[in-house]
Amino acid sequence: MITKEQVVEILSTVKDPHLHKSIAETNGIREIKIKDAFVSLKIALAKINTAEQMKVQQEIVYKLKQNGAESVGLRFEALSEEEIGQAGGFPESGPSILSKNSKTTFIAIASGKGGVGKSTVSVNLAVALERLGKKVGIVDADIYGFSVPDMMGIENRPKVEGKRIIPVERFGVKVISMGFFVEDNSPVIWRGPMLGKMLNNFFSEVDWGELDYLILDLPPGTGDVAMDVHTMIPHSKEIIVTTPHPTAAFVAARAGAMAIKTEHEILGVIENMSYFESKKTGEIEHIFGQGGGEKLSEVLGTELLGQIPLEQPDDQPDVFAPSVYAADHKVGKIYLEIAQKVIDKL
Ligand SMILES: Nc1ncnc2c1ncn2[C@@H]1O[C@H](COP(=O)(O)OP(=O)(O)OP(=O)(O)O)[C@@H](O)[C@H]1O
Ligand SMILES: [Mg+2]
Repeated sequence: MITKEQVVEILSTVKDPHLHKSIAETNGIREIKIKDAFVSLKIALAKINTAEQMKVQQEIVYKLKQNGAESVGLRFEALSEEEIGQAGGFPESGPSILSKNSKTTFIAIASGKGGVGKSTVSVNLAVALERLGKKVGIVDADIYGFSVPDMMGIENRPKVEGKRIIPVERFGVKVISMGFFVEDNSPVIWRGPMLGKMLNNFFSEVDWGELDYLILDLPPGTGDVAMDVHTMIPHSKEIIVTTPHPTAAFVAARAGAMAIKTEHEILGVIENMSYFESKKTGEIEHIFGQGGGEKLSEVLGTELLGQIPLEQPDDQPDVFAPSVYAADHKVGKIYLEIAQKVIDKL
């Protein structure tokens, strides 16, 4: 017949699924009653009524029956906040995405000036990489001028589990943006150190899981936040976005110079708003000039990854995402080609 000591011994091999410690260590064994071969238990877990609780239940019943219990009665309750704290709190799930062992490639999307399409490129490059089977995240590092949630049509907010933030998923891409943490679209008025801290939280406290690529949508220019990102993620790769006008390329070269100074490898240049193609006549007009992308890639000694025309994504009746091109859209296909080049380069 099974004894109380045996039950304790068996229970000390069962782990609290959220604390990664045995339920003996977390003070999770609340009550053990044995009558004949009937074992009745009360167990406390960090989180209850979860799928993980079902697994714990199955594990306990199985192990006890293996050791002579005829039937097992189980009740669950939650550990107190204090007990969770005493057990060391919720551990960070896996190593930080910023750690050296992380297999994630960071790609910062930068430009010399605003409004050239960094956010549009970030979003569509991320979606294209995902369409090619990669695991992808986006950090909207434009703390003041966040736009990624709106562009992707995201209406929900990230969940917070313990100390970890679970990013929002859209088109299979994991997204974190300052926009998720401000009320009613009010302007963000934090400064200096707070900003750096916020950005740091986006990496250290967000549960990204395993990612192949993390795309960083940078704010325009070469200001504080851009500099923070450069110092925080020294191994980041970079893509520079420019419009086709030769003087725009000249401005964009400053962003490129900053990348070079901080030893970020430049993967290439994307020329956005390159031309306009008339749907009626098929005629191509270079509304914003010509040659900027080519010139910039020469100056930076890198490749022109692609040229994206001026065109709105078609309205898709079933999905609301104002800036995401469908995979079979002409521009969507260009993004797939660019994404494939990026994959081949890395
Ligand atoms: N190829 C394009 N065709 C049509 N519209 C575009 C294209 N690329 C970008 N846009 C539009 O241009 C505007 C600016 O683009 P976006 O916000 O991506 O630029 P940005 O460089 O991120 O700007 P900011 O510097 O303000 O962050 C947006 O309204 C976007 O929808
Ligand atoms: Mg932007």
